[in-house]
Amino acid sequence: MERHFTLEFLRTTEAAAIKSARFMGRGSEHDADRAAVEAMRGMLNTINFDGRVVIGEGERDEAPMLFIGEEVGTKRGPKLDIALDPLEGTTICAKGGTNACSVIAIAEQGNFLHAPDVYMDKIAVGAEARGIIDINATPSANLQVVAQAKKCRINDLTVCILDRPRHEQLIREVRQAGARIFLIGDGDVSAGIATANPDSDIDMLLGIGGAPEGVLTAAALRCMHGDFQGRLVFSNEEERTRASGMGIENPERIYNIDELASGNVMFCATGVTTGTFLDGVKFYGGRARTHSVVMRSQSGTVRYITAEHDLRRKKI
Ligand code: FBP
Repeated sequence: MERHFTLEFLRTTEAAAIKSARFMGRGSEHDADRAAVEAMRGMLNTINFDGRVVIGEGERDEAPMLFIGEEVGTKRGPKLDIALDPLEGTTICAKGGTNACSVIAIAEQGNFLHAPDVYMDKIAVGAEARGIIDINATPSANLQVVAQAKKCRINDLTVCILDRPRHEQLIREVRQAGARIFLIGDGDVSAGIATANPDSDIDMLLGIGGAPEGVLTAAALRCMHGDFQGRLVFSNEEERTRASGMGIENPERIYNIDELASGNVMFCATGVTTGTFLDGVKFYGGRARTHSVVMRSQSGTVRYITAEHDLRRKKI
């Protein structure tokens, strides 16, 4: 995958972030999400590539745009698979909370797990703890090895967990192990990426969130040399059947980071609302300032890009 694409794909998350940020705190998840989807799709279709959405807004009948299987791009250029979430944290954006962002990951065809829209049990860590985590081990055992790798005590570590009733037992176990906990209302992609960001206070992400978000997090952590494991979690038989139709042969399988996002991966994210690793969109005097990250697994370069957009001249 040619590296000039980084800037092209960055434009898609910038556009989605600017459009959806207009709806920050205005109480409509639907409007915020629609604005992000339309903007990202518009930008994607200006890029010279032959793209196919493999992680998207849902199946064709439930998502009018950027549905799984949708073809994007001008068709002039390489065949690439796309995993995207134009607005990760729709509720956050609608309520004006922290950590909403727009994300996209790109790989050569066949390199992303075609994850169904079900839950995924996840563990994510940064580079220092790469290769030592085990989703089958207890939280305490994982914390112990991560503390050793980071040369600190367990009670110096912070674990990020989605604040959900399903995590009561997990939260109890992490507390018993002695680690600190950062509970979030939504947005586990940002939290997963934060584990690999040396400036963040988050050392580990644990718990159950969306499976598509798991693939996006794995793509980002591939670029940052972090680590991730995930196991699909099904709520009913219908979900299992749908997954099997999407090629998931063993529903109990544990996916390593490379099985979720393999080959050369590119990842871009732009903050919509301010969060742990990106600032949100700021509007001023007919302009918008965006904060983004762009990274590639091949080089491991992580670029933070601040852009000033003149909204009077630019049609986003
Ligand atoms: P959306 O952007 O689709 O609203 O997802 C937000 C999110 O918090 C994800 O970050 C997370 O993986 C998932 O929802 C958790 O799902 P649930 O809210 O059902 O627990």
